[in-house]
Amino acid sequence: MGPLQIKEILQTTPENQSVVVKGWVRTKRESKNAIFIALNDGSTIHNIQAVAEPGQFSAELLLTVTTGSCLKITGQLIASQGAGQTVEVKITDIEVYGTADPEEYPLQPKKHSLEFLREIAHLRPRTNTFSAILRIRHALAFAVHQYFNEKSFFYLHTPVITASDAEGAGEMFRVTTLDLNNLPRTEEGAINFKEDFFGREANLTVSGQLEGELGAMALSKIYTFGPTFRAENSNTTRHLAEFWMIEPEMAFFELEDNMDLAEDFVKSVISYALINCKDDLNFLQNRLTEEEKNKPQNERSLPLLEKLSFVVDNPFERLTYTEAIEILLKSKPQKEGKFQFPVGWGIDLSSEHERYLVEKHFKKPVILTNYPREIKSFYMKLDEDGKTVRAMDVLFPGIGEIIGGSQREESYEKLLGRVKEIGIDPENLWWYLDTRKFGTAPHSGFGLGFERLVQFVTGMGNIRDVIPFPRYPKSAEF
Ligand code: 4AD
Ligand code: MG
Repeated sequence: MGPLQIKEILQTTPENQSVVVKGWVRTKRESKNAIFIALNDGSTIHNIQAVAEPGQFSAELLLTVTTGSCLKITGQLIASQGAGQTVEVKITDIEVYGTADPEEYPLQPKKHSLEFLREIAHLRPRTNTFSAILRIRHALAFAVHQYFNEKSFFYLHTPVITASDAEGAGEMFRVTTLDLNNLPRTEEGAINFKEDFFGREANLTVSGQLEGELGAMALSKIYTFGPTFRAENSNTTRHLAEFWMIEPEMAFFELEDNMDLAEDFVKSVISYALINCKDDLNFLQNRLTEEEKNKPQNERSLPLLEKLSFVVDNPFERLTYTEAIEILLKSKPQKEGKFQFPVGWGIDLSSEHERYLVEKHFKKPVILTNYPREIKSFYMKLDEDGKTVRAMDVLFPGIGEIIGGSQREESYEKLLGRVKEIGIDPENLWWYLDTRKFGTAPHSGFGLGFERLVQFVTGMGNIRDVIPFPRYPKSAEF
């Protein structure tokens, strides 16, 4: 169906057969004996080389064959004499679908900075780096669905527009149909959301977890995979205002089972990428090596593929928050006063602490459990001591927190207490509390930030570069 793509053509045995190739010009090179056009259609990192003889085409036509222009090339598929490719196309005809004026087209055959490319997010998928990232992103998404399908999880579609604040953190984007210039008011002067399309306040979801729990309490094992929104004003390399989250939720899973699943799941999708995205990963690995070539040897990071294989092949370190604090208290940076935020039991670990544990102390991914209740969400199951909760965060080198999850509080009374404690009106969560009233059960789940996973697998330093159209404070125009 449809024309052959370059990826398929490159795998074909060249027998002088006629072939049609469609794609965008990466480079054109003219020598005394031949004209070489490198064409790419995004199906693979590799270009196909098309060759014409000097004088075969008019100078006028060749002038329109520039980087970024789109061509249909007809010719013969032959074995290539040149290094770097096994097949090439001997051109018989060129049709120019669309030109790209070199005076205007921003992507020229030279190295562009990632910052510059962010400003032209509409064109950056045409670069090698971004097409590789987008293909890997696709492969990882596919691997996620495959993993859960094989493990008998059901894909549950949770709402994007919701009234609840699943994390209780108040970082929500409001959704309203009200005319902001003419807001309806109650007698007391408050905004009257009853006149809104939803008849109440509505937000974009920060997490599908609470609805996911409803699904798990009926179907046993579900997962969500959808966009989530956080109106936090963070300008970091790890935060987006719109990101995709994968949230499995399982009835009858305790914290231990939850950790086993999280570790197996993330290893499994990374290993899928290692097997299925070799060319793109190799390209990104070379890109990173090139970037680091001026650094002293001991400051260079492991080659990308080695780093990924290491994570897949080694067990994650598991320890409690309390044990982690003890390690941090005894650490060199703490003793030398090098941490920006001093360590003590009860603090919310900041990325410098997480990175110390993962990158300096254990030198591998770490799962931290049993955090103080005060710094974690209301729905987490209280430990027997009443001080900590059955939380788990998975921390990755270079990333920090990649997964956050927990065993959920299944006791109606305890959960109601926690809801009130953090100042949520139980009326707003009556449907959630009902799951604990009717046939409650132990259950657990977690959320994996999909972009942080793509960031880890591609080795990209900034999360804005692993999503096609990043949303962040003051981001793009479309
Ligand atoms: O730790 P978080 O906030 O946990 C939850 O939302 C739970 N409801 C998950 C669950 O138990 N079902 O977010 C989960 C993960 C984080 O570990 C991180 O990887 C990612 O989502 N994340 C973000 N990724 C990009 N930009 C942001 N602003 C993110 N906030 C969280
Ligand atoms: Mg978290």
